[in-house]
Amino acid sequence: MIKTDEFARRRRLLMSMAGEGAIVILRAARELVRNSDVLFPFRQDSDFLYLTGCHEPDAMLVLLPDEGPDGKSLLFCRERDRQKEMWDGPMLGTDGAVEQLGLDEAFPMEEADLRLRELLHDRIRIYHDLGRDAEFDQRLIGWLNEFRGKARRSFHAPEEIIDLGHLLHEMRLFKSRGELSVMRRAGRISAGAQLRAMQACRPELTEAHMHAELVHEYMIHGCEPAYPPIVGSGENACVLHYTANNQPLADGDLLLIDAGCELHGYASDITRTFPVNGRFSGPQRDLYEVVLTAQEQAIAAVRDGVQWDDIHDVAVEALTDGMLDLGILTGDREAAIEEGLYENYYVHKTGHWLGLDTHDVGDYQVDGHSRALEPGMVLTVEPGIYIRGNDERVDERWRGIGIRIEDDVVVTRDEPEILSDRVPKAMDDIEALMRQ
Ligand code: GLY
Ligand code: MN
Ligand code: MN
Repeated sequence: MIKTDEFARRRRLLMSMAGEGAIVILRAARELVRNSDVLFPFRQDSDFLYLTGCHEPDAMLVLLPDEGPDGKSLLFCRERDRQKEMWDGPMLGTDGAVEQLGLDEAFPMEEADLRLRELLHDRIRIYHDLGRDAEFDQRLIGWLNEFRGKARRSFHAPEEIIDLGHLLHEMRLFKSRGELSVMRRAGRISAGAQLRAMQACRPELTEAHMHAELVHEYMIHGCEPAYPPIVGSGENACVLHYTANNQPLADGDLLLIDAGCELHGYASDITRTFPVNGRFSGPQRDLYEVVLTAQEQAIAAVRDGVQWDDIHDVAVEALTDGMLDLGILTGDREAAIEEGLYENYYVHKTGHWLGLDTHDVGDYQVDGHSRALEPGMVLTVEPGIYIRGNDERVDERWRGIGIRIEDDVVVTRDEPEILSDRVPKAMDDIEALMRQ
């Protein structure tokens, strides 16, 4: 759990970067109606969660760097409503926002427009995530237009709206000690779910049974899936975003599970590929070995100062070498890499930032160059090979096999730390586990 004073520290840091004359405005996510009285499960906006720890809709955070020595944080939120609490459970309320979340002041959401219009007077820059809540953006722009007419007489109107993401997403890219400790636990729980699925797997079952094993493990640990689990057996493993998860598990097929839980807002994201019957076939072994080698080499390359693109390049080279050895690719190595022949079987990148979002925020390029890794960044490393069942360019034995191996990795000053290593990925270890 992230502590209240860490949220306060984040707000102070953001205010110090936004600087004098700034105002920061950030809205909570909206509730979405599924039908009549049924809502989609609510998930707070990650930026809002990062700065408040608040899990309620109908709220707005306003930061005022100029007020007091450390600036001031205001929250507009719903007032407690006894009637509503009978249906939906306890609400935060304005008192709770101050007492539980540590905001400096809190006001009912109904007062937001009136107060915000006044707070905008004499501010020079507005930091706001324009484009996320179109209705609010319209109101904000409307006020600014209105101010322009009056401003010269009585106050100074803000001159610019700046995308809040530039400052905030750079902060989110570097994980604190508290965040890493939550992410370690999320990694352990998600690895436990993969273990559970491996142990339960057998040919009479279906992909749906495996999906249920994962969700069972998440829920008993107080988590939810961070994204819809991908549970693809046989050729379904070649569909990168397969989520139907409803086919029978065939003896002799591989099963690819890409799934992770969300804990206190933080995602984990693990992929393992293992044989439905507990034993890899010869061709499955050969291909798996190539992906595993690529993954291990790419993880070993995750070092302070190494460029983001280098991690992908290490994986691409290892995958290309392996596929050339197996005769899946033919010709000259350099040409196979230069011309991107590997892209016939490996179409995605080797990873992404991980944090409050599964594909987390943060730039991958700085000043037009691939970004150097730094301690505190967390990324996934997830090479794969996917050969469709009807691919006549390759020998029949390789067809219909999809393999991906994915771990969550922290950049440190030294060896990379792997958050997801509680679940085996060496073939002998997987087979031994499945024999038990
Ligand atoms: N599960 C989505 C991904 O691996 O990026
Ligand atoms: Mn994944
Ligand atoms: Mn991933």
